Amino acid sequence: MGAVVTSGVVVVTGSASGLGARIRERASGDGWAVAGIDVAGGEYQADVRDPAALRRVFAEIRERYGRVAGLVNSAGLTRPGPSATLPEADWRMVVDVDLSGTFFACQAAFGHFAECASVVNISSIAAARGLPARAAYSAAKAGVTGLTNALAAEWGPLGFRVNAVGPAWTNTPLVRKMVADGVLDERSMTDAIPLGRLCTEDDVADAVLFLLSARASFVNGQTLYVDGGYSAAG
Ligand SMILES: NC(=O)c1ccc[n+]([C@@H]2O[C@H](COP(=O)([O-])OP(=O)(O)OC[C@H]3O[C@@H](n4cnc5c(N)ncnc54)[C@H](O)[C@@H]3O)[C@@H](O)[C@H]2O)c1
Repeated sequence: MGAVVTSGVVVVTGSASGLGARIRERASGDGWAVAGIDVAGGEYQADVRDPAALRRVFAEIRERYGRVAGLVNSAGLTRPGPSATLPEADWRMVVDVDLSGTFFACQAAFGHFAECASVVNISSIAAARGLPARAAYSAAKAGVTGLTNALAAEWGPLGFRVNAVGPAWTNTPLVRKMVADGVLDERSMTDAIPLGRLCTEDDVADAVLFLLSARASFVNGQTLYVDGGYSAAG
């Protein structure tokens, strides 16, 4: 399949690992200029919890690449644990990175948006269905749905679209660690998904690239679950 050549830079947070890394690679393959931001380093190092650091790197990205045609918020983490005893620090960390970090990155990018810019927030099935021992993660990702809806309504009149992608369990370092720690079990995950397999990084990248592209030019304020039917099944 030929590359879809596009203009403008796509900025991916959480680009050093997992979904962000694959989205970065696939967007580049489609002809986008791509700039990655990650706390763990890479091209632009910043913590999404730090609005000043984000403003600094977005200014650098603007200087080097020009305006921002797309923003993919993939920086995220989880701290599973029973709600009754979940440490305050774990709650705060998950909400700060997954929800507030997504907002701060949107805010830092706003002044640099190109015409018709598209934002894609990486949400999760945890936004749609309750997952035990994931209160902070579920609350943060459901918050991402609310944030996506609010920004779509606020920025739509300016021509900017804001959507989210909600993947099911995907074989990334985040999930591999949870399997290794005994928090997740591969068999129960696949059994819960009507299509009978885990999500792949490319399943997610395909949805993200669609939402970034002009093919999704009338799609705004949606959360697209890439989950093999998990969120639809009772
Ligand atoms: N893997 C899954 O099954 C799955 C399913 C649904 C949603 N998600 C979501 O997808 C996103 C990516 O997850 P992943 O599986 O690729 O995880 P990952 O751990 O492989 O990658 C996450 C990346 O985010 C970066 N990051 C973490 N905290 C950061 C911060 N404060 N500032 C900047 N960067 C930070 C990490 O350094 C890492 O490179 C997350 O938002 C996650 O919640 C993952």
